[in-house]
Amino acid sequence: MIYQSDALSLERHDDGIVELCFDLKKESVNKFDQLTVQCLTEALDALDKEQDVRGLLVTSAKGVFIVGADITEFTELFDTAGDDIASFTAHNNANLNRLAALPYPSVAVINGFAMGGGLEICLACDFRVMSTTAKIGLPETKLGILPGWGGTVRLPRIIGVDEAVMWMATGKEQRAADALKAGAVDAIAEADQLRDVAMATLGQAIDGKLDRETRRAMKHSPLPLNDTEATMSFFTIKSMVAQQAGRNYPAPIKVVDVIEAARGMDLDEALKVEAAGFAELAKTDVARALVGVFLNDQLLSKVAKSWEKKAQTPVKRAAVLGAGIMGGGIAYQSALKGVPIRMKDINQAGLDLGLAEANKLLAKRVSRGRMSPEQMGDVLNAIDPQLSYEGFDDVDIVVEAVVENPKVKHAVLGETEKHIRDDAILASNTSTISIDLLAEAVERPENFCGMHFFNPVHAMPLVEVIRGEKTSDEAIARTVAYANRMGKKAVVVNNCPGFLVNRVLFPYFDGFSKLLRDGADFQAVDKVMEKWGWPMGPAYLSDVVGIDTGVHAAGVMAEGFPDRMKMDFKTATEVMFDNDRLGQKNGRGFYAYVPDKRGKAKKTVDEATYELIAPNVADRREFERDDIVFRMMLPMCTELARCLEEGIVGSPAEADLALLYGIGFPPFRGGVFRWIDTVCLQQIADQSERLADLGKAYELTDGMRAKLAAGETYY
Ligand SMILES: NC(=O)c1ccc[n+]([C@@H]2O[C@H](COP(=O)([O-])OP(=O)(O)OC[C@H]3O[C@@H](n4cnc5c(N)ncnc54)[C@H](O)[C@@H]3O)[C@@H](O)[C@H]2O)c1
Repeated sequence: MIYQSDALSLERHDDGIVELCFDLKKESVNKFDQLTVQCLTEALDALDKEQDVRGLLVTSAKGVFIVGADITEFTELFDTAGDDIASFTAHNNANLNRLAALPYPSVAVINGFAMGGGLEICLACDFRVMSTTAKIGLPETKLGILPGWGGTVRLPRIIGVDEAVMWMATGKEQRAADALKAGAVDAIAEADQLRDVAMATLGQAIDGKLDRETRRAMKHSPLPLNDTEATMSFFTIKSMVAQQAGRNYPAPIKVVDVIEAARGMDLDEALKVEAAGFAELAKTDVARALVGVFLNDQLLSKVAKSWEKKAQTPVKRAAVLGAGIMGGGIAYQSALKGVPIRMKDINQAGLDLGLAEANKLLAKRVSRGRMSPEQMGDVLNAIDPQLSYEGFDDVDIVVEAVVENPKVKHAVLGETEKHIRDDAILASNTSTISIDLLAEAVERPENFCGMHFFNPVHAMPLVEVIRGEKTSDEAIARTVAYANRMGKKAVVVNNCPGFLVNRVLFPYFDGFSKLLRDGADFQAVDKVMEKWGWPMGPAYLSDVVGIDTGVHAAGVMAEGFPDRMKMDFKTATEVMFDNDRLGQKNGRGFYAYVPDKRGKAKKTVDEATYELIAPNVADRREFERDDIVFRMMLPMCTELARCLEEGIVGSPAEADLALLYGIGFPPFRGGVFRWIDTVCLQQIADQSERLADLGKAYELTDGMRAKLAAGETYY
């Protein structure tokens, strides 16, 4: 052994081949953390002293190659001065440059994920061979930054500017076949033959049959584009990337800028441009928010995993009651992820509809090559449509998704309990009815909880797992375990009207109602909030959710929290409801939905809306952009703070992710608590004072006041 540390080792084999093997001790995966960077420097020092080396293999002893930089180190790093960020990139760039300049060939053996820094070290090697099961990519822009260890320099020089930009701007993982086609790797091999292929490649390089010098020269040289080509090419790429990324995500555009600025430079100069771009992005609120989201997500997974471990009975078979929009979606998702499911409805038409929906989603997967027809058959076979409770005694969990009516749910839950095992869990997908109220219908309330999915089930990541007063830990554990199996993000919350997400969404809608009451134009509000980052403005969102659903839920919320959520005026949404304008579902809500040429409902302006609401709203007037934002967002902030203070949700991280995954809160803002930290609690307090006349929903909570007084932040 030439060198051995807690991150990697350097071993000499008989034939003058040295193997640099990454194996981060005490971790299940390899990361490019500061320890690894330092150890790599030491290993290269040791390698320099080694005589008669003919070639280098770069390998991993883990199931992955290297998953990327250690993102937990980013928060602190990004807080430091620009110089420290520069030395962060410079240190490992020096490593990779040394590796790239070794006086013998090097081959990276990509056995599993090689992402970010993990791929950048491979790009510094002369040749790359990749397992057919591995994936590679440069996902940094997803964190609001760009590759900082030569990725923006080497990748375009290896695979061409267009392809390299697409890889970096989307941050997508690339499969082996695509990587080979792009020229990012030189060979791919089945996992069990990977090492042999790598050895053969290295052998050929040593024998001079593979030309490493030309490759090295290419990576050190300016991009092979003349001025005209470059102008045309970068102009097109930039507009395409700008369109895809949107104005709130600066990193993908910066990638293009950096590549363009460095196109005529050699490696060293180009790396300086990259480092400057990296440091600039690292200082943005967007990077801080996106890195925060990543870390929150890790925390959420950890919490979910620890619940799963507590579950005494795993979910091997499930059942769902109701084959409607939600029940059908739940059955599809469960079957897709390998948990067979019984789907019960009271009429055949319902079952047919539920199955047709699953069929449609699966057919789409097949047509996109993401699934074979045989696999599609298997998934469909894992859904058992039925009109009776037959076989319910063999399921570990039942999700109730029948109509949102407490009486019907009571009857259905009571009846279901008689057909399932004593230890089976019953979970309701209700969106508004109290879990404690529903628990009154069952004899084993300890086995009962909420499992609130979001529509459409297959697309929305969040599941709220709701603990009632009598819910046992086992019920929560098994329900979270089931959500995990379904590939969903489970957030455990305590029971209250609206649970977590709807409880904070409705005050936001109330803010909208008050804006309209005071003369704002609903289209203007939508525009401002969409620009602010929401996928849809509040009027459009109301139409998509369904005006009837919204009015019903608003009633439940008003009853639950009258001091903040009871409106003492007729809201524009209620006017829509009274006029049978139910939103997208019947073609008219705030907007009208007119089928376009392809039959797809297109949102259009409907002057009738203004006429209908006119008697209930003030004369139209303009509101400042910031005024609209704070009037909309403040009630959401205070209600979320209340949920945290009341223990409805466990942490700011879980609360922020619930809104991201449940209702599409803009990721570049990180979440509500992250946004409060970004704009400063003091500004929230100032706005609260300014808007005090709008009611209690705009008042800071005790906890917020205490934080403000102590100068604390949520993160
Ligand atoms: N649609 C949404 O956006 C959404 C989102 C989250 C939660 N939810 C909740 O999910 C539940 C279902 O909503 P949905 O939109 O799927 O409703 P839906 O009307 O589309 O489907 C309800 C289904 O339940 C069936 N049903 C009625 N009584 C039954 C019984 N006794 N046994 C078995 N099946 C019965 C009906 O035939 C129908 O197929 C509701 O509690 C709703 O609040 C809905």
